[in-house]
Amino acid sequence: MVRLTQVSKTYMRGETTVSALIDVSLEIRRGEFCAFVGPSGCGKSTLLNMIAGLDQPTSGEVLIETRSTRQLTSAEWTKIRRETIGIVFQAFHLVPGLTAEENVALPLLLRGEGGRGAATRVEELLEMVGMTRRKRHRPGELSGGEQQRVAIARALVHQPRLLLADEPTGNIDSHQGADIMALMKSLAKAGGQTVLLVTHSEQAAQAADYTWTMQDGRLVERTVQMSEPVPL
Ligand SMILES: Nc1ncnc2c1ncn2[C@@H]1O[C@H](COP(=O)(O)OP(=O)(O)OP(=O)(O)O)[C@@H](O)[C@H]1O
Ligand SMILES: [Mg+2]
Repeated sequence: MVRLTQVSKTYMRGETTVSALIDVSLEIRRGEFCAFVGPSGCGKSTLLNMIAGLDQPTSGEVLIETRSTRQLTSAEWTKIRRETIGIVFQAFHLVPGLTAEENVALPLLLRGEGGRGAATRVEELLEMVGMTRRKRHRPGELSGGEQQRVAIARALVHQPRLLLADEPTGNIDSHQGADIMALMKSLAKAGGQTVLLVTHSEQAAQAADYTWTMQDGRLVERTVQMSEPVPL
């Protein structure tokens, strides 16, 4: 689903250069849930932004479903973001003037999908994230955890094949964070989505199938999560 080949990213900061990513190669297969962990500044967001097309590698190649991101025109990127990718950010990025329900509907409207079908899909997603009773609220009238649930519903409403999440539980308490992770995991498994999660939280990373630990712009270790305990 996603393949990186010797991807490096260097930023210029005045006279100095910062190597945000160094020679990163990896493959994430369809349906996998992969977490990236590591200290602040190790390159996690840079890596995710590269895959989201929000940034370009200095060298190396990023493939999304066999297509090299280098060759994509901005119109093609727009199409991929509308169809293939869903993104959840730490700061939610909901549109303040729109209600929860209108925020969730946005990706469908951008694709020119309206009407009964879209409305049903929005209802369905709000139900899945437990926000039906708050659907007429605007983001300012919702708690952090509620806003994040709306953001997850919005990221999944158009059934993207790839879900990218950068610290989705960073702005909410750990109890709510665990709920959000469990929710993301179950929605992704149900929809067959591939998920790339960036997180500081070891606990959040437990939801993933496996974890890449990053350090100073490099991938240093891949850990496969132990299978979940069998319920008694
Ligand atoms: N636009 C930019 N210009 C210059 N340097 C940048 C830019 N974006 C990121 N960096 C630098 O690249 C490195 C990696 O940053 P990145 O945001 O990927 O880290 P991160 O692992 O996501 O950290 P955090 O956990 O704090 O979010 C850092 O040293 C950062 O200062
Ligand atoms: Mg980051």
